[in-house]
Formats: sequence, C-alpha cells, structure tokens
Amino acid sequence: MEPAKISIQDASLRHLDRLYEIEQKCFKTEAFTKRQIAHLLAHPNSVSLVAKDNHNIIGFIIGMIYYEKEKLTGRILTVDVHPSHRRMGIGTALLEQIEKIFVEKGVENCYLEAREDNVAALNLYLKLGYRKVGSLKNYYKDAHGILFKKCL
Ligand SMILES: CC(C)(COP(=O)(O)OP(=O)(O)OC[C@H]1O[C@@H](n2cnc3c(N)ncnc32)[C@H](O)[C@@H]1OP(=O)(O)O)[C@@H](O)C(=O)NCCC(=O)NCCS
Repeated sequence: MEPAKISIQDASLRHLDRLYEIEQKCFKTEAFTKRQIAHLLAHPNSVSLVAKDNHNIIGFIIGMIYYEKEKLTGRILTVDVHPSHRRMGIGTALLEQIEKIFVEKGVENCYLEAREDNVAALNLYLKLGYRKVGSLKNYYKDAHGILFKKCL
C-alpha cells in the first residue's frame, strides 16, 4: 500500500487522552497506564512524536535517551499505530523520525523489545535494520521477549 499522507510532530501532554486511547487499542495486557504515558511525555530525556492524518492523531512513539558507559543510548518504549491506519507506513515513519532525532542528539545505538509472538513488530524492526541481540525470558506476563539493537 502507498504510504499515507501523514505528518509527524512532537507529542505533548495535551495529546494525553488520545495517546491513551490508542495505547488501549494497541495493547491488551501490556498497555501503559495514562499516568505512565504522562510521566514519559514529561520526562526530560524522552523523545515523543505523534503521527497525524490531517488533524487526527493516528499513531505515536515514545523513546528515551540514556547515558551509559560514556555513550548516549536510545530505547524505544512504545510505538503505536491505530488499527484503522495500519500497514500504511506510519510505524516506519515514526521509527525513522525518532532515529533521526536520536542521531541529532548524539545517540549511537538504539534498543527496543518485542513479544516473540508480535509478528507485525518483529517484521517492522527487522525491515528497519534492527537485529536480535538477546532473549528476554518471561519478560511479558504470558510471553518471552526479544531484544533488538540497531547501530544508528
Ligand atoms: C507494529 C505496528 C506499530 C506496525 O505499524 P504499521 O504502521 O502498521 O507498520 P508499517 O506500515 O510501517 O509496516 C512496515 C513493515 O512492518 C511489517 N508489518 C507491519 N504490520 C505487519 C503485520 N500485521 N504482519 C506482518 N508484518 C507486518 C511489514 O514488513 C511492513 O512492511 P510491508 O507493509 O512493506 O510488508 C502496529 O502493528 C501496531 O501499532 N501494533 C500494536 C502495537 C505494537 O505491537 N507495537 C510494537 C511493540 S511496542
């Protein structure tokens, strides 16, 4: 399918209600609470973006930058695309944009995790150049996780 005509913009606390609504549509058991999303959006080391179709938010991504072993490392905490707008390149656009911002801020490596049964996420990450670097046993309530890394 052709990529949707979307714009990617900075997220903020004023988007909280909509982001929580999308988070609940995306995750059954592992959804962040509204309070957790608010905390992440307001965190000084977070990078958060929304994808808009006209004025309607249809996806978002939240990442965090850490200083570890004298290097800046990025971690993607969640990437969510509303079910009505999947498979249109929006997840890809959100990840590519946050990676660009990470690079501008000096981040060298980006990490993320996925459930081993989340086929959409696994394919998306592999397609964008992430590589499996670890297994996360019982990471989720009812599934193992996989740790991915990409050198930016
Ligand atoms: C994972 C997710 C973010 C993908 O978003 P998306 O906008 O649909 O992804 P894209 O359109 O950019 O897809 C890019 C590639 O990912 C893979 N992919 C995406 N959805 C897929 C699916 N349902 N099945 C298999 N592969 C899929 C494909 O390789 C796809 O490329 P293609 O369309 O050329 O084949 C979305 O399915 C989602 O929000 N899921 C629920 C939340 C979640 O699991 N987030 C990730 C864990 S934090």
